[in-house]
This record gives sequence, structure tokens and C-alpha cells, in this order.
Amino acid sequence: MKLLSLRSGVLVASAAVATLAFGLAAPGQAAEHPAGGAAAKANPTLREVADRTGRFVGTAINDGRLGDTTYANIAKSEFSSVTAENAMKWGSVEPNRGQFNWAAADRLVSFAQSNNQKVYGHTLVWHSQMPNWLANGSFSNSELRTIMTNHVTTQVSRYKGKVQRWDVVNEAFNEDGTLRQSKFQQQLGESYIADAFRAARAADPGAKLFINDYNTEGTGAKSNGLYNLVQRLKSQGVPIDGVGFQSHLIVNQVPSTMKANLQRFADLGLEIVVSELDIRMATPADSTKLQQQAANYKTVAQTCLAISRCAGITVWGFGDRDSWVPGTFPGQGAANLYDDNYQPKPAYTAFRDGLAGS
Ligand code: G3I
Repeated sequence: MKLLSLRSGVLVASAAVATLAFGLAAPGQAAEHPAGGAAAKANPTLREVADRTGRFVGTAINDGRLGDTTYANIAKSEFSSVTAENAMKWGSVEPNRGQFNWAAADRLVSFAQSNNQKVYGHTLVWHSQMPNWLANGSFSNSELRTIMTNHVTTQVSRYKGKVQRWDVVNEAFNEDGTLRQSKFQQQLGESYIADAFRAARAADPGAKLFINDYNTEGTGAKSNGLYNLVQRLKSQGVPIDGVGFQSHLIVNQVPSTMKANLQRFADLGLEIVVSELDIRMATPADSTKLQQQAANYKTVAQTCLAISRCAGITVWGFGDRDSWVPGTFPGQGAANLYDDNYQPKPAYTAFRDGLAGS
């Protein structure tokens, strides 16, 4: 404990510097698992710390990077859960109608099994990254419903017992809290959501089923829309187990209402996860922004810990060099726990402190 509080005191130092100061192994290099001795370990991994409170700490995995030893070592030693960044999306697994390509998704599942990690399935029904045949095809409403439920059934069945949680429906909302006019919503109406959840439950009754979205972390119109939908689904007996809050955040803009907002969803009897955390900044990074980012990562970890039904946090990749952010928001980036060279940033230590409850 003394060491931990000392560590909080050196928040300004990167974990690498702290490591030197304490003469300990570098984060990401220690592949041991917490065999009850984690509490005594001076420089625990993220997963060791998260294990102590019964939470998972996950990362999105870029399939193309798994062959890089540094990348793979951090992924396996620091994280207790993995999410496919792209490999389980509809466009990846069913590029042609009825023809499935599981190679990359299987690789991830097997990586997780080898490293005693959970798998978070992302994502079954989403308006984006659909295969061309689906995005551009014309189908009757009943045909589209069958296409959707077949896809859900096939994918969830394949990983029955191997994927613990699924994002069944992703990003169903507009910013004003109305339902997004995706192909599914346009043709099938809101009932597509219930049907997707029912198909997933039937295919693997043991998997926890989530709805996932962004800009729903704080209270507001979008979050209210999601809340109302979840209430409707529950009252209709639709098998929904949890809500994912993506949390693609901006430095110094962690919503002040995040804890209260996540708590109200938890109070519906649902599991909560932070599903895609990253915290971006205007680049280049500087030490002020990195310290602010570190504090923000810690706040999000503490927010999850404060909610008993918050099962864990997944970061959307761990190295800045792999992040989706600069490609989507030019001039922004440095959003992750590790820098371009996979050196831990101040955010790493702060996030770990937050996960530890310190
Ligand atoms: O696979 C093709 C490749 O064949 C092609 O040569 C290349 C050229 O652009 O594109 C490759 O596909 C890219 C794909 O990532 C795999 O690398 C797509 O262009 C690119 O758009 C895609 O971006 C992903 C994005 O989702 C798509 O919307 C990001 O990696 C991924 O981080 C991001 O993740 C989403 C979550 O799923 C949902 N929430 C938001 C989050 C961030 O946008």
C-alpha cells in the first residue's frame, strides 16, 4: 500500500521513470498472473490490479499487429479481456452473403484462450462496416430480417462458450436521442433491436448481451434515448444484460455526470461496461496535456469502480501508433495509455491507480 500511495505521488513521472525509480520490471513485460500474490507485487500489471476488484480490463486488438512481439506481449500481460477492433464486424466475417471468413476472429479467440483472457464480441448489428452486398443490396423487409437474424445466430453460435459478452446492437442512436435511420431501422423499425437480442440469446444463452453507443457517457438527449429504449426492451422481456459506454473522450472533457448516468442504467439491473475508452488531445502532446489525460483516465477508472455493476473497462487499443483517432480527427491523437513506441505514458500509471481504487 505504501508503494502504491507513493506511486500516486509520482503521477507526473511516466511509468517507465517510476519503474527505474523503484528498480522494478517495466509494465507490460511481466507476464505473471495474480496467483494470490498480486497484492504483494510492487509493480502490478493492469489486469492484476483489476482482478483484485473483480473487474476486467480489456483492450481492442488490431489483428494485423498481433505478429509484433512487443504488441502481443503488452496485450497479453496487461489485459484480461480482448475485443476485436475490426475482425468480428459483419464486413469482416461475412464478406459475401452466406460465406463466412472466421480467420481473424478465430485468431483473436485463440490468442485470448492462450492467455487466460475474456473475449468481448464486437459487433453483430451496426450501420457501419457492413459488407457491400448488404449495404448496397435490395431486400424485402422479411428477407432483411432473416439475413440479420441468420448472421447473429451464425456468429454467436460459432463462439458459443468462448465469447462472454456481445455488443449485439451498436450505435443505434442519433445525437438527439432518436433512433438512427440505419438500413435495419428504416426497413424493420425498432423491432430489429429486439429480434437481434433474441437471436443472440437463443444462440448462446450463456453470453451477456449488450447495446453499445458513444456520446452517451453523460446525461443528455442521446443518453436519455438509450435509457428509454433499454427500459422498453426490459419491459418487453427482451434479453438484454448490459449497456456499453464507448467513452471516446477528449482531454478535460470527461462528462461530470458520467457516474450518475452510468448508475441510473445500472439501477435498471443491467451490467455496465466502459467499452472503447480513449482520451484524445490536440497533437502534439505536451506534458500538461499528458498530465490532464492521466487524471482523466484515472477518473474513468474510479467511476467504474464506484458502480458495483460496472464489470470492467476496455481501452480502444493501447499504443498511440495504432489509434483510429488521427485518421478520423486530423490534428488530434495521443489518446492511448502507451506512446508511439509502446512506452507507458503518465496515463498508464494513473489508470492503474484508478483501477486499484487509490
Ligand atoms: O481492411 C481494409 C483494407 O483492406 C484497406 O486496404 C484499408 C484502406 O483504407 O482499409 C481497411 O479497412 C479499414 C479498417 O478499419 C481496418 O483497418 C477501414 O478503412 C477503416 O475505416 C476501419 O476503421 C475502423 C472503424 O471502426 C470503422 O468504422 C477502426 O479501425 C476502428 O477502430 C473503429 O472502431 C469503432 C468501433 O468499432 C465502434 N465505435 C467507434 C470506434 C471508432 O471509430
